[in-house]
Amino acid sequence: MRAAELRRLVQHHADLYHRLDAPEIPDADYDALVAELRALEERYPQLAEPDSPAAAVGAAPSELFAPVAHDIPMMSLDNAFDIGELRAWDARAASRLDRPVGPYVCELKFDGLAISVRYERGKLVRAATRGDGRVGENVTHNVATIADVPDTLGTDAPEVLEVRGEVYMAISAFERLNKAREAASEARHAKPRPYVNPRNTAAGSLRQKKAAVTAERELSWWCYQLGAMSGGPQLGRHSETLEFLASLGLPVNDDWLLAENLAAVEDYVVRAEQRRHAHDYETDGVVVKVDDFALHAELGTTSRHPRWAVAYKFAPEERSTKLMDIQVSIGGKGKATPFAVLEPVFVGGSTVEKATLHNEDQVETKDVRPGDTVVVRKAGDVIPEVLRPVLSERPEGLPAWVFPEFCPCPNRSPLVREEGDAAHHCRHPHCPAQQAGAIEHFASRAAMDIEGLGERTVELLIAEGLLTDVADLYSLEVADLEGLERFGSLKARNLVDGIEASKQRSLARLLFGLNIRHLGAAVGEYLAHAVADDLPDDPDAVDDLDRIARASKEDLAEVPGVGPTIAASVRSFFDHPDNQRVIGKLRTARVNCAGPAPPEAGEAARATLADMSIVVTGTLENYSREKAAAAISARGGRAPGSVSGNTTAVVAGASPGTSKLTKAEKLGVPILDERSFEHLLATGELP
Ligand code: IVH
Repeated sequence: MRAAELRRLVQHHADLYHRLDAPEIPDADYDALVAELRALEERYPQLAEPDSPAAAVGAAPSELFAPVAHDIPMMSLDNAFDIGELRAWDARAASRLDRPVGPYVCELKFDGLAISVRYERGKLVRAATRGDGRVGENVTHNVATIADVPDTLGTDAPEVLEVRGEVYMAISAFERLNKAREAASEARHAKPRPYVNPRNTAAGSLRQKKAAVTAERELSWWCYQLGAMSGGPQLGRHSETLEFLASLGLPVNDDWLLAENLAAVEDYVVRAEQRRHAHDYETDGVVVKVDDFALHAELGTTSRHPRWAVAYKFAPEERSTKLMDIQVSIGGKGKATPFAVLEPVFVGGSTVEKATLHNEDQVETKDVRPGDTVVVRKAGDVIPEVLRPVLSERPEGLPAWVFPEFCPCPNRSPLVREEGDAAHHCRHPHCPAQQAGAIEHFASRAAMDIEGLGERTVELLIAEGLLTDVADLYSLEVADLEGLERFGSLKARNLVDGIEASKQRSLARLLFGLNIRHLGAAVGEYLAHAVADDLPDDPDAVDDLDRIARASKEDLAEVPGVGPTIAASVRSFFDHPDNQRVIGKLRTARVNCAGPAPPEAGEAARATLADMSIVVTGTLENYSREKAAAAISARGGRAPGSVSGNTTAVVAGASPGTSKLTKAEKLGVPILDERSFEHLLATGELP
């Protein structure tokens, strides 16, 4: 029976969340389970049970700390998941009052745990968690270690003041803690088990048996609500209360707004969601409270929550979904990257169906398996990520994923992982999956910049037998394309014109476009410039590309910015007869094989990153950290080691630093993959 099943699930997840501070599923999924159970119980009252978990606000307090009965219950809030639900809440309240409800106070909804702190004659005497709303647990000693919670209030403090607020862990403190944990486990040669998120870490930190442990955890506190008070000023409005609490030295977040009408509330809600990542603490919504206390009394409460307030929830950034499969995609240089094929899920403002899993080690560390339910995160514009499996939903005996032995292309050549490399590669020279990647790369904006030649078009042209290598592009004619699926004559003409125009691109771009292992956009430029200054004369060379193609490994390695590894890879590329054939065809098609670029263009290219600050994290395929920094500074940019408000972009390779990514995400700094980085180097434009 669904109701019984739901009760069991809600109970299970509520316990994990409230008692063990270790949730398995995202909040949004939990909310959906509770909503489904409530709806069922409301529709079929005969199914409802007196102790249904849908009725409980939180879970029963754990026995760890002594129980504390709240004088005034600590209720939870009704949720509004969109503007329509916010308006419906307002309309219900207005119809109860028979007049408009405003003004309202809008506050951020901090993602931590609610506590009540009681002061008597200005001295902190007791702090308690919310527990089940009626009875919480005594956490006075632990709360007293939090720097934001004053031990004493000024002399004008009321006789008794019980104030409520949210204990949280700042994101920066959370990152510091995880870093320390990582260092400690490295020292023990153990696998690092990072804390999952700031909220649960804050909750766990507050429930420590030793206050000294809590004290080390850098917790913070925002207070936002008055509980019991005697002997204080007559307060008639919530806005006055916030001002009063702040005047006593209590930490009230400044971001609140007195909104005259619902339109102003809606405006606040939209802006708060947009600025969500600009704070050093997590917020998951906006709390809207009716300002006038007289109206609170008139509106009253339901059994669960007050009618004078509502929690508007932001779109969830974490959702769970089914991991249907793990497949590998083959890049232009044969790199095999595993990616998650997900049951489509709407998260962080868009539908996510695929997410990269980077490499074999990442899949193993995360222990995600096809058939698992997994938690997916997508914050704002950031690349979606599979965080972890929901182990309680893992079917019994579900096998771990193994990296495929063979390339998915019809050649089925082996995928090899070389010593010291995190990635697998297909090394087959005629791998169509690789060919498609190589042609897309050749056409990309940072290389030959051929408009209209995206992934699907390339696949189509390969399938039609019109393309086998990049040089075939130059024999395409309008007549070949017209009539193909999705091709009209205009589109065919535009593509052919675009291909024709690409013949004039610089030698540096051509070199980069050829997809030579280890040769990124920057090295393409170094080599193109080296033709004039650094390579020995060669009277037999037919053009500049040929001079590079004929240069010895030693001469190539001498070129500044090249070195022995790239030199070896350039040499082996030009030694391969297939590549010689392709280059011959390019030359016949009159693709520009002469360089370097005219000096003015060269100078302009050099300054493409003027005033930009670009942080590189993780392992890139074509650039060591030093080389990436050199490429950035050669173009007038800076490459500092940490993300700040001045950072223009973060470039993330395999196994990137999560704290850098989180910070970038928080500051709204774009995160680029290696392709986009090369595009940035070549054009100075963020994609
Ligand atoms: S007022 C009766 N204000 O959200 C009203 N709560 O679902 C009491 N929260 O239990 C709460 N930020 O843990 C209020 N600015 C804010 C809040 C806030 C976060 C939490 C709090 C509360 C839950 C309600």
